[in-house]
Order: sequence, then structure tokens, then C-alpha cells
Amino acid sequence: MRSMAPFVLVVAMLAAGMLLVDAYPSGPPLSACSNMRPTGHGTSTLTGTTPFSITANTTFYNPGENIEVTISGAQFIGFFVQARQRDAGSDMNAAVGTITPGNTNIGKTLDCSGGTKNAWSHKTNAPKTSESAIWTAPSDDHGTIAFRATIVQGPSSDRYWTDVYSANLPFGAPASPTSSGGGTTTDNGNGSNAVSGSSVLLVLSSCVLAAIGLQLYFGL
Ligand SMILES: *[C@@H]1O[C@H](CO)[C@@H](O)[C@H](O)[C@H]1NC(C)=O
Ligand SMILES: *[C@@H]1O[C@H](CO)[C@@H](O)[C@H](O)[C@H]1NC(C)=O
Repeated sequence: MRSMAPFVLVVAMLAAGMLLVDAYPSGPPLSACSNMRPTGHGTSTLTGTTPFSITANTTFYNPGENIEVTISGAQFIGFFVQARQRDAGSDMNAAVGTITPGNTNIGKTLDCSGGTKNAWSHKTNAPKTSESAIWTAPSDDHGTIAFRATIVQGPSSDRYWTDVYSANLPFGAPASPTSSGGGTTTDNGNGSNAVSGSSVLLVLSSCVLAAIGLQLYFGL
């Protein structure tokens, strides 16, 4: 009887493991909203250089702007994405803006931290290689934000990456290079007008001088 104990234990662990592996095939629970940790997926996170990136199609955001967000890099089975504030002193756990999945057969939204449609996840654990969504910026200034992703690489759901961040997106358009160095550029552009203006003046004054000269010559 005693010799059966290790065997029973192993079977119990395997059963528990199998339950965990398929914990959230249709997306994370709301309890994962804040720390974005896939609690049903085991406790280990993949470490090293992630093969994934999350990118935006712009480098800053304006109020209400639609920005395309894309997860890509390698095959994955699950994901969870939110836009997070990044400035020191801001609430970095709150999801900001709203998200519209590009493909509603694969992605869905969640209502996190008292908001609506401010998080984006998979709704099927079928393998995918690239997924996009449109993030609509809030109507007011939330400082610098970035997209934060948890990505389940698979093939088993305990192989996942956390804290995958996009580049920071500051609020508002950065000062454009042409306006900071623009004085010179504009002056050069209108400089040629000024040059042709002086050429006209030069010709005119030459004529006047010539006329005076002629007058003086014939007047003598
Ligand atoms: C980013 O993508 C969105 C959605 O396709 C589009 O409306 C927006 O104009 C794009 N922004 C830039 C800067 O290309
Ligand atoms: C330069 O010239 C253009 C064309 O005449 C004009 O529209 C523009 O306002 C001028 N810029 C400055 C800084 O004077």
C-alpha cells in the first residue's frame, strides 16, 4: 500500500498540471487585469530575450487618436494587452484608452479597472503569428503611455512572457525639426526672393546712374 503513495502523488500532480495548462484558452479572467500575470498558467515566466515585440504605428498620441497596435515576432497562442501610464507618480496599473480588436474571431476586449474595453486578449488559443488592434487614446492628457503585453508562446500555456512593453508614446506632437531649425530654412527660402529683389534694385539704380551720367554728358 505504501509503495503506491508516490505513484498517486504523481498522478495527482499531472492531473493538476493538465488543468493548469488549459486554464484560460478563451482569454484571461478579470482578476488578471492589474498585474497581467496569467495565474492559471503555472508560476514560471520565460526569461531572456523575448522573440516578441509590441509596436504602435506612431511615436506619440493625441486626444482621441486611433493608433494601430501589433504583436508580432514568433508564433503564440495567447496574449493580454493594455495601454499603461509610464510617468513616475502616475497610476501605472490602470488601463487607459479603449481597444478595438482587428480580428474579432481571434481577439476580444475586457473591461478592466472599472473602465470599458480597455484591455485586449485572445479568445481562442489557436496559434497565431501577428495580431493587431486599434487603440483609441483617451480624450485627455495621460502623460507618456506604453503598451504592455503578456504573451503565451506555447505550445503549452505555461510558456509565457510578461512585461513586454512597446516604446513609450508621449502625449502630443513632439517639436518638429523644421520648426526648431526652421528660421534658417525659411530665411533661405525667402532669401532668394530678397536677392532677386536687390537685383531689381541694382538694375534700377544702375539705370538711374546711367541716366544721370547721360544727362551730365549731353548736358555739358
Ligand atoms: C495608424 O493606424 C490607424 C488605424 O489604421 C490610422 O487611423 C492612423 O492614421 C495611423 N497613424 C499613422 C500615424 O499612420
Ligand atoms: C516666405 O515667402 C513665402 C512666399 O512668398 C511666404 O508665403 C512666406 O510667408 C514667407 N515666409 C516668411 C517667414 O516670410
